[in-house]
Amino acid sequence: MKDQLSILSSQWNQSLTTLFKNDPGRGVRYVVEGAGLRLDYSKHWVDQSVLDALITMLAECDFDSMRQQLFEGEKINCTEGRAVLHPALRAKSSDEFLIDGVSIVADVLSARGHAYAFAEDVRNGVATGATGKPITDVVNIGIGGSDLGPLMVSEALKPYIDGPKPHYVSNVDGAHLHDVLTDLDPETTLVLIASKTFTTQETMHNAKKAQRWIADSLGQQAVAHHFAALSTNSDAVKAFGISEDRMFGFWDWVGGRYSVWSNIGLSLMISLGPDVFDRLLSGAREMDQHFRDASPARNIPVLMALLGVWYRNGFGLETLAVLPYEQRLHRFSAYLQQMEMESNGKRVDREGQSIDYETCPVIWGEPGTNGQHAFFQLLHQGTLICPIDFIMSARPVNTDSESHMLLNANCLAQSESLAFGKSSDQVYQDMMDQNVSEAEAKRLVPHRTFPGNRPSSTIMMQQLTPESLGSLIAAYEHKVFTQGVIWNINSYDQWGVELGKAQCNALRPSFISGDASTFSSSTQEMLRWLLQNTH
Ligand code: F6P
Repeated sequence: MKDQLSILSSQWNQSLTTLFKNDPGRGVRYVVEGAGLRLDYSKHWVDQSVLDALITMLAECDFDSMRQQLFEGEKINCTEGRAVLHPALRAKSSDEFLIDGVSIVADVLSARGHAYAFAEDVRNGVATGATGKPITDVVNIGIGGSDLGPLMVSEALKPYIDGPKPHYVSNVDGAHLHDVLTDLDPETTLVLIASKTFTTQETMHNAKKAQRWIADSLGQQAVAHHFAALSTNSDAVKAFGISEDRMFGFWDWVGGRYSVWSNIGLSLMISLGPDVFDRLLSGAREMDQHFRDASPARNIPVLMALLGVWYRNGFGLETLAVLPYEQRLHRFSAYLQQMEMESNGKRVDREGQSIDYETCPVIWGEPGTNGQHAFFQLLHQGTLICPIDFIMSARPVNTDSESHMLLNANCLAQSESLAFGKSSDQVYQDMMDQNVSEAEAKRLVPHRTFPGNRPSSTIMMQQLTPESLGSLIAAYEHKVFTQGVIWNINSYDQWGVELGKAQCNALRPSFISGDASTFSSSTQEMLRWLLQNTH
């Protein structure tokens, strides 16, 4: 793969300006639609021969068989011996998903039904707080996949919230829990402890503090009314003091960063309601079907994956900016950072051999238009070339169309300017037209020239609805899967997070004893300084 792509990229010598000049139909032809999304990939460093080569490379990676294994519940998470079946979480009763030959659909529907019933009880005031008052606020305490997905979706679908208000606490920094609880009334607050393992240090620490917050104000007996757990670890949930009927389970074949579709989404089911949550699932399910059925050349996640690999492995580009022109998607790139970087930030292949090619780029981004007034300078004129995913919608939700038109004009203007730039001749001529002196114009030309040729995709949807959001998230999930297949890595484990956790556990006693002699001199000195300045 590496050699194929380096040969191909070394032969690539066309700019986006040339590509469009020689092929004005690109803007029509290099567009695919599916599951409510439209992907325009015309502003990329590809022509038909590159696309054909990328698709051939994909086939050589045994992609069809790997995709079949994903949907058939094979244990493709080979270091943990687990299936990877988040698509099953979007299942309808007519769908079939099997693990070891046994259908899991009934279990999925029943777990979802249990959570939906509880969500309705909370929304209707049937499940109240200990003093009989209805629940007005839901606090989800979780981190990583047990936080980022529900948080991102609740922000994206804010206009659809018609139930108790959702809040999210993730950081072990006491400021996070404090700042959320400070505005809430314990009598009307429901706390959800969201943790697949129910052992995550930050979550359990915050959970105990929240438990104290309820007990201190309403008494110990109130705790049962104000807590629920979203987890796969029933023993730990029981040990924490949450009863079985308040535990909403899922399974080890749901990775944390793919768990928003499971009962980890309970805060969404309560605040948005089961009907809206169903619409989110159905959008994702539609994308699953598109990913399974569409040919590679017409397949949105596959094309996104191939373009990413082309830049990463062909040209060594190190980042991907995801820039939604949708303010409500302001947590989307943070969500994708976990999905992509925890999945594909790997340096050994599925057999454990070191690999000699690059894997996941750095994913980053902020919504437009804010980013334009911050980091776009670098995107236009910096030395780093950063491919971009622009995300936009035709119609606004709950806001005026004039603002939305302005937003969209900005988005199209940016992809156009990044792709085609502005030549030094044009810049010089403009200054001459404005009566700038010749000497001054010559001095300023290099500063004011835009090299262009900056590649981008534009992902478009009619409107940011539960369905289109579900489809968008699932498109990135399948992109990540496809890239994992090409890179021959296991996208579904995350051993890289373990060392830091262990070191933290080892260091905690040093904050009491002051002795960190088993650590480096740097760590010892930092601890000494911290302890000196603690009081
Ligand atoms: O430490 C990384 C991680 O395991 C993520 O993969 C996961 O989403 C997060 O921690 C939270 O884990 P849990 O849901 O088990 O608390």
